Amino acid sequence: MNTPIIAVVAAWLLVASSASAEPAPIVDSKARFHPVLARSGMVASQERVASEVGAAILAQGGNAIDAAVATGFALAVTLPRAGNLGGGGFMLVYLAEQQRTVAIDYREMAPRSANADMFLDGEGNVDNQRARYSIDSTAVPGTVAGLLHALEQYGTLTRQQVLAPAIALASEGITVSPDLSESLQARAERLLADPVTAGYFFRADGSAPEVGSTLVQSDLAKTLTRISQQGRKDFYQGTTADLLVASIASHDGQLDHRDLADYQVVERQPVCGSYRANTVCAMPPPSSGGIHLIQMLNILENWDLRSLGHNSAAYLHRLIESMRRAYADRSRYLGDPDFYPVPVLRLTDKRYAAQLAAQVELDRATDSEQVAPGLELNESLETTHYSSWDRWGNVVSNTYTLNFSYGNGKSVAGAGFLLNNEMDDFSAKKGAANGFGLLGEEANQIEPYKRPLSSMTPTIVFNSEGAPLMATGSPGGSTIITVVLQTLLNHLEFGMNIAEATAAARIHHQWWPDKVFWEKGVGDDTQEILRNMGHTLEQSPRVLGATQTIGQQGPWLHGAADYRRSEAAAAGAD
Ligand code: DON
Repeated sequence: MNTPIIAVVAAWLLVASSASAEPAPIVDSKARFHPVLARSGMVASQERVASEVGAAILAQGGNAIDAAVATGFALAVTLPRAGNLGGGGFMLVYLAEQQRTVAIDYREMAPRSANADMFLDGEGNVDNQRARYSIDSTAVPGTVAGLLHALEQYGTLTRQQVLAPAIALASEGITVSPDLSESLQARAERLLADPVTAGYFFRADGSAPEVGSTLVQSDLAKTLTRISQQGRKDFYQGTTADLLVASIASHDGQLDHRDLADYQVVERQPVCGSYRANTVCAMPPPSSGGIHLIQMLNILENWDLRSLGHNSAAYLHRLIESMRRAYADRSRYLGDPDFYPVPVLRLTDKRYAAQLAAQVELDRATDSEQVAPGLELNESLETTHYSSWDRWGNVVSNTYTLNFSYGNGKSVAGAGFLLNNEMDDFSAKKGAANGFGLLGEEANQIEPYKRPLSSMTPTIVFNSEGAPLMATGSPGGSTIITVVLQTLLNHLEFGMNIAEATAAARIHHQWWPDKVFWEKGVGDDTQEILRNMGHTLEQSPRVLGATQTIGQQGPWLHGAADYRRSEAAAAGAD
């Protein structure tokens, strides 16, 4: 541990002991924060300090859910572009004692005032600026309700104990990393447009805070303290709700107190399938992730991939053709299951997958059927995934987001947090692509209280005895599902350990645009073969995804942070 982190943990102990009647959490001096092998618990996240917070919770006897909730609140402080209070997400929890996996849906909901045409201009075209950056791009946040639900149902520590580290980080300040400074500077124009955001994250001259300086977030600390004291009520009906609604109204937005009070967390059955001897459980709708992950695995199971060789042209061709078919189905059939009858069983049926596999010509690319807008990757994207695992075998796989990096760039005055722009994940109009180039239809059209379709894919894989083997997930918008797919295949099919599985070069195809995006590391000769088969290839303008994975290897937990994000770290808790 370096000095600033010791200071933060010391402050945390002080806050924790004054805020709670419970015994103060004790940071186990044996807690090891850097090893990627540990026996008693592990947290892997995109930001080192947040991983350390989770590992310390595990080291002091908390379970994987306690660690996940503490890490989630800590990331809201240390990774403001994706960690959040103002967004939403999905948490998959494996409960070892009950041998049961639950899927906690804390996705944002459209406000009551939302309607199918709300982002169309006078000509009936989608106004992307409004869908992505206006106050109406904000849906009702679910994160606070979701994390507290997980803690109350499945955690063992108090709210005060799991929130104390985040409060200390916000009030004492975090050390600005190169990643934080650079990510703020890169979006300065958009973020400075909101004076509240400018005040929270930038210096008076409009520049981003310098690397190594301390960023104190006092309003956020106050909000976290209120949440710690009053729970969900503060955020959805109390002082924070008042501040949030006042901020929305100051931009002429419609989201109001009733929308907040009506927010619901939903526990759902995970969608589970098998890949050879393994069971794979992932997020059901309103995420498309689980269904299409399993659908693609089902298609791919029809071929002996191992004999083709990892990232060979023959293997990548089968991957691409599976992706193309899954994303075509996504555009038609996927949406919030509380509003639209998503054909989950049919889409994840192995017989259907066999039909799709049979359509694939093994030496030639299939044409995607219609012209569509290109994938817009000029907006920087940020969601974040983390996984936690405890000594009892409980496992959490959590992905949450503001949608774009720093959401719509607007902050809640007095409450210290940014607002999501998740409304853009709906299909604002049939045939018009959203910010990830994804198409949608009626299943994902905007309706009051509906949840926008997501690609977030928190996943837990089990071995043939039913014991958890691996937890993973990723940011990356539309690329999340294909990134998780390749991580699983690298480990399960090609025998890579999870660090190798994480590092290996990835590709992505999403039906439209009809292009294979590739990362460096896919060989030139392989690309040449794929081009000759009729595929259009384009180097991805940025890395594909950032998985934060934990795997079980005999008695060891193995953490694999994905260094596609520079501050990522796994933290073991032996
Ligand atoms: O829920 C979704 O699918 C998107 N809002 C996720 C956004 C995202 O992953 C941005 N990240 N890199």
